[in-house]
Amino acid sequence: MSQPKTYIVGNWKMNQSIAETESFFKNLSPEIKHYSGETWIAPQFIHIPLALELAKSTDGKVKIGGQNCAATDFGAFTGEVAAQSLKEIGAHFVILGHSERRAIFGENDQTINHKMKKSLEKNLFAILCVGESLAEREGNKTFDVVKKQVIEGLSGLAASDYKNIAIAYEPVWAIGTGKVATPEQAQEVHAFIRKTLTETSCPAAQELSILYGGSVKPDNVEGLLKCPDINGALVGGASLKADSFYGLCR
Ligand code: PGA
Repeated sequence: MSQPKTYIVGNWKMNQSIAETESFFKNLSPEIKHYSGETWIAPQFIHIPLALELAKSTDGKVKIGGQNCAATDFGAFTGEVAAQSLKEIGAHFVILGHSERRAIFGENDQTINHKMKKSLEKNLFAILCVGESLAEREGNKTFDVVKKQVIEGLSGLAASDYKNIAIAYEPVWAIGTGKVATPEQAQEVHAFIRKTLTETSCPAAQELSILYGGSVKPDNVEGLLKCPDINGALVGGASLKADSFYGLCR
């Protein structure tokens, strides 16, 4: 049985101008060439071709992906982006079910499950995001919420799909707030996710990488990554500048 891989994934959200994207890669490239781990960046859709071009200067160290995709094949869906188009353009992965997609754009577990299936069908690696709100944590509902999101998000996938899946646990109260979960709080939920995968006979319960996200910074990432079930980080704010992103990787 192989160990879960470690990933550092930058979620740029709706940030970074063309000039900022160019300067990010210019500053990152000399450093990141010496790093051996998996480093991924998800820019805005429209900047994916630019990021792919600029990422060549990292000697293939940085892979580029999307922050969302449509749940369906090509069709009359104004404003949507198809998983097939992401794949064709050269994207490696897609982030699905981010809490901002759930809260602002009304995505539910069923929609997210359809997006998972569509992405995997088109050979994209899919990162399924899960996590409880502050009210849910304070109401002792964290485990119930996370369990439902994991089970419904992964529902009906084939055993062969699991080599292309990671889960990101992102407590909503920690995203963009500066309030990072303590390593103990995060590890508790990560271990619970792994237990849920085992109990539901997930074929990759032990190998699947579970990333933590929510106010990860270069000065707190090490404590989090030392935990046995934390296999990487999904990072917003601290992934926008090359020195801080490289600080996370190092
Ligand atoms: P943050 O965002 O690192 O800025 O908290 C994390 C995320 O939303 O993935």
